[in-house]
Amino acid sequence: MARGAAAAVLGVTVVFGSSLVTTAGAAETAKPAGIVLGVGATESQRVVSWYTSANTAQVVQVAPASKVRNGQFPRNATTFPATVAANTVNGGYNGHATINGLKQNTEYAYRVGTEGGWSPVYTFRTQKFKGDFDFLFFGDPQIGSSGDTARDGAGWADTLNVALTANPDAELLVSGGDQVESANNETQWDAFLASDRLRQYPWAATIGNHDVGGKAYEQHFWTPNTDRSAPFYNGDAAARSGGDYWYIYKDVLFVDLNSNAYAAGSDEAHIGYVTDVIHEHGQDAKHIVLVYHHSIYSPADHANDTDNQQRRKDFPTAFSNLGVDLVLQGHDHSYSRSYEIKNGQKANPAEQPGATQVVQGPGGVIYVTANSASGSKYYDLTAPDTSKDPDYGPDPLNPDHHWANSVENQEHVRTYVKVQVRDDKLVVENVRSGTCAAPNAAVELGRVSWCGPDSGATPARPVGSLVDKVVIHTTGDRGHGHGGKPGRPDWVGQEPRDGKATVTALS
Ligand SMILES: [Fe+2]
Repeated sequence: MARGAAAAVLGVTVVFGSSLVTTAGAAETAKPAGIVLGVGATESQRVVSWYTSANTAQVVQVAPASKVRNGQFPRNATTFPATVAANTVNGGYNGHATINGLKQNTEYAYRVGTEGGWSPVYTFRTQKFKGDFDFLFFGDPQIGSSGDTARDGAGWADTLNVALTANPDAELLVSGGDQVESANNETQWDAFLASDRLRQYPWAATIGNHDVGGKAYEQHFWTPNTDRSAPFYNGDAAARSGGDYWYIYKDVLFVDLNSNAYAAGSDEAHIGYVTDVIHEHGQDAKHIVLVYHHSIYSPADHANDTDNQQRRKDFPTAFSNLGVDLVLQGHDHSYSRSYEIKNGQKANPAEQPGATQVVQGPGGVIYVTANSASGSKYYDLTAPDTSKDPDYGPDPLNPDHHWANSVENQEHVRTYVKVQVRDDKLVVENVRSGTCAAPNAAVELGRVSWCGPDSGATPARPVGSLVDKVVIHTTGDRGHGHGGKPGRPDWVGQEPRDGKATVTALS
């Protein structure tokens, strides 16, 4: 059975809930809550973020799980000091610390706080630091958007459980943005963070349009290599969150953008950021994956939003020139997988709808949009409408769909995207994590009137069944900006590479 499932808590009662009251006196022991494991700059790092009741010195304590018995850490456990700052909303404080120097193939135990005020003990596991791995991508949990936070949270927790029970060796959980409906609503954040899976597997946060209107997003998630310069940030540093960031995990360079910032030169700035990161670090990776919230080849309600039309003009040629392999997006609460797109055009006119194998040529990029991972809200597919955007019309091979998309799907059931990273290919699957039965808030509450394939005419397919699967072959001389994809030097994956970290070997 899933190692992850058993890993939750070692011998300590869970106390949870991050809605904190600010009563901290100097002598008060800080009470941590809302703990979340985040992605680090490399596979040998993790970041832990949390909320806390007091602005005292706090740490993350880490030891190999085999050395932790009955919640007791060994004397030589390693501590990583936290940075603690005042929350700007709802009182309290937030802390984060970066865990460095992890070894491969090791299960670690960790806890947050200080002597006399420790959190429960959680575990995570590293795997081999080179080679193949799988990661999971989740669209718009958007907890609270059905109007029923508890139901949305139940669907989200179930998707995490289903996905990680089926894929206990998945190494990253990648966000498509819109963690919550209302940026600073800590009840929604509590429901988002309720599953212990988010303390066992690293969450790679992405900011959506619903997260951006307040500071809670960046108070909950510290991310590595983050640039919060004004063009990436969407303005108003006191009241908004976000920024662009990157990390390298084994053979993949991930670049995560705050697509809320798009006007007044921001798209140009994002392209500059992606260009710089790929020029500096693309040679250290075999594959390049971009992540941002606002899908540009959107299949549903947001297809012709003015801002998406703008990004659809601004982004694709740059991404082709830079040798991006895969773009992961959210926002439209429905699933799409594009054809191979080069410079904003279908690269190979003969590529058939739903093709299960795609061989990427130079500049070929696949764009994926994730459906709702929580069931809180679904958007129905829309017909292409050239009166709104003459450049986003129907697919000649399948006129119901937009020209860019090989697959478009909406069944009003929860799904997640699984990506298998292999030496010469990326395998992308869209997997059902729910059915029409509860938890499925939008269906339960009558927000949608049908459920199942073919607009509800066909009974729902079982949990774990596939909506889509494609093997993207990424080999060959692709003329990429990151230079022919050479093998990675031996040191890659052995040490943190952000230049800021203090390496502490964990024994
Ligand atoms: Fe959303």
